[in-house]
Parts: sequence; C-alpha cells; structure tokens
Amino acid sequence: MARESLTLRRPDDWHLHLRDGAMLKAVLPFSARVFGRAIVMPNLAPPVTRVSAAEAYRKRILKALPRRTAFTPLMTAYLTDTIAADEIERGFASRVWIAAKLYPAYATTNSDLGVTDIARIAKVLERMARLGMPLLVHGEVTDPKVDVFDREAAFIERVLAPLVRRLPELKVVFEHVTTRDAVDFVRAQRPNVAATITPHHLTISRNALFQGGLRPHMYCLPVAKREAHRLALRQAATSGEAKFFLGTDSAPHRIADKEKDCGCAGIFCAPAALETYARVFEEENALDRLEAFAALNGPRFYGLPPNETRVTLEREKWKVPAKVKVGTGAVKPFLAGEELGWQLLGKPDSPKNR
Ligand code: NCD
Ligand code: ZN
Repeated sequence: MARESLTLRRPDDWHLHLRDGAMLKAVLPFSARVFGRAIVMPNLAPPVTRVSAAEAYRKRILKALPRRTAFTPLMTAYLTDTIAADEIERGFASRVWIAAKLYPAYATTNSDLGVTDIARIAKVLERMARLGMPLLVHGEVTDPKVDVFDREAAFIERVLAPLVRRLPELKVVFEHVTTRDAVDFVRAQRPNVAATITPHHLTISRNALFQGGLRPHMYCLPVAKREAHRLALRQAATSGEAKFFLGTDSAPHRIADKEKDCGCAGIFCAPAALETYARVFEEENALDRLEAFAALNGPRFYGLPPNETRVTLEREKWKVPAKVKVGTGAVKPFLAGEELGWQLLGKPDSPKNR
C-alpha cells in the first residue's frame, strides 16, 4: 500500500538565493519553514566579497526570520579575480564562510564581478584546498561560441577536469547539475567532488521553456536540458549515492523582471521544494532514499552533523501559491497554482514543524 505519511530528518538546502531587503523578507519563510540550514549564495549587488559583508548579511537574514523559527544561514564568499587568499582564509577560520562560490564572469545573475579566468584565482584555490574549504561552482563556460545547451559539458572539459587534476584534494560542489555529462563526471571523481540537484531540473526538460509559448518562469541557468539529461539527474538524485544532495537554487526575481525583453534567469522553487522532490522520489520508487538526499549526504560532505529534528510530509493535496507578494510587486513560484500530492505537516512558521 502507498505510504500516507513520510517523516525524515529535517533537510537542509545546500544552494539558496535569499536576496535582500523586501525580497528577503518575503521569500525567507518558505525556506525556513522546512530547512534547518541553507547555504546562502553571495551574488547580491554588490556581491559578498568581504568577511564583514557576509557577517552583516547573515545578521539581516536572522533579523528577517519569522519568530520562533530555528534556521541557520551558512554564508559564502563570492570569488573575484582580485579577492585575497588571506581574506578567504580569515572568513573560513572565523566560521563566517562555509565555502566560496565561483561564478564565471557573466555566466548568470550578478556575476559580472565573477572570475574571468580561473588561472587568476590559482593562489586562492590552493589555499582553499589546504584549508579544506569547499569550492562551489557554477559550471558553465561563457564563451559565446559555445551553444548555450553545451556550456556545462564544455565547462567540465575546459575548466573542472583540469582543476580537479591539478588540485585533487580540493573539495568541490558542482552546483545545480543539469546534464548526464556532469553526473558521470562527478561519479568518476573522488568523494571530495559532489553535486547538488534542483527540484526543477528533476521535473522539467527544455521543452517546458517553449510549451505553448515562451515561458520565462521556466528559465534559469544552467538552462534545463533534453529529456535524457533529466532522466540521468533523476537516477543520480534517487540513487542514494553520497555525492548527490539537495540544493534548490531557489532564485526569486520579481515577475516584472522575468516577463520582459531580456528577462532574468532564476526559478523560485522554495514554496514547494521538498514537496516537489518528494513527488520525484515517489515517481522513481525511491521515497526511502529521500532522507539521504535531503538530510544526510549534504551534512556529511560539509562535515556537519545531520539535523536532530524531523519534518513530516502527509499525502494530502494542496496547491502551490500562484504568487508571493514582494512590496508592490510579486514573484511567481515554480509550479504556481499546480496541485501537489505531498504536503508538509503544520503551517509555515508553525512550531509544529520544529
Ligand atoms: C541565479 C540567480 O538568479 O541568482 N539564477 C539562476 O538562474 N539559477 C544565479 C545562479 O545560480 O545561476
Ligand atoms: Zn544559484
């Protein structure tokens, strides 16, 4: 008989965009209701390149939390061509930064100050390898000659494979993988190379971007790929392998910033993230492996204990909100208005979930 409820250790989100100001206030409750910890991306404008900026941002996140919500933001450094290895070490040693993020310059939202050539941060990466500080990678080349759907595969060949050969002890998370190539690459490496997988890349192929018209809310980077890649991601996520863990890449942009000429990349999946993963795992007959993916593999990779509290999903239909208000605008969640079959027990912010 199909299960009616599912209790697991409280999951963590190992890749999350919380933004700042009114947007932070509006989106944070959706993550904090379910995840115990989240790795918070540093691509603010201006980006988080200093320890002091990360500390201040962490304070703003804690201040924006709904009352009685125990949620721990884990901060990251934004790597630039000129960031100093000493600053990186200082933030890691003082436990402000848990990891550093590599955005190839111009690869995605707020990445214009990212790294133009990985050779420029060689010293920083050597230091991180020595410290055991993880490198989180947005794995896409930006070479305009490379087809947008091939940019992840090209990144493996041109940047990531040479990097792990040169620094085999460096801890690397290949973020939001979208291709079979990435899954295969990660599997072939030592245990210190892992990957996060988003709920949307497990759910949609690139067809969704053009279904009945142009669909800006299905657009994120790396862009969704062919169906065969989605199937490879589903296999990896539900395999139980320690290298693959939960990272939503929930990346809210106001509707007005998505639905325009040159709309922003990013999918706001936080409102139904765990529930969407649960649907995928159920479809793959792997509900018993959801806890490993969502709550165990990530902490093990980062050398942290898993959460002690639990969350419960019940088999109950509910609808993903059509919109989430932000100031005078709004954000549209992934699967907005759609019905899902697993619901988190207790209302958002409710102590019942704690
Ligand atoms: C992210 C964002 O909006 O900050 N966008 C996205 O499409 N995923 C940046 C990123 O992770 O690439
Ligand atoms: Zn991201």
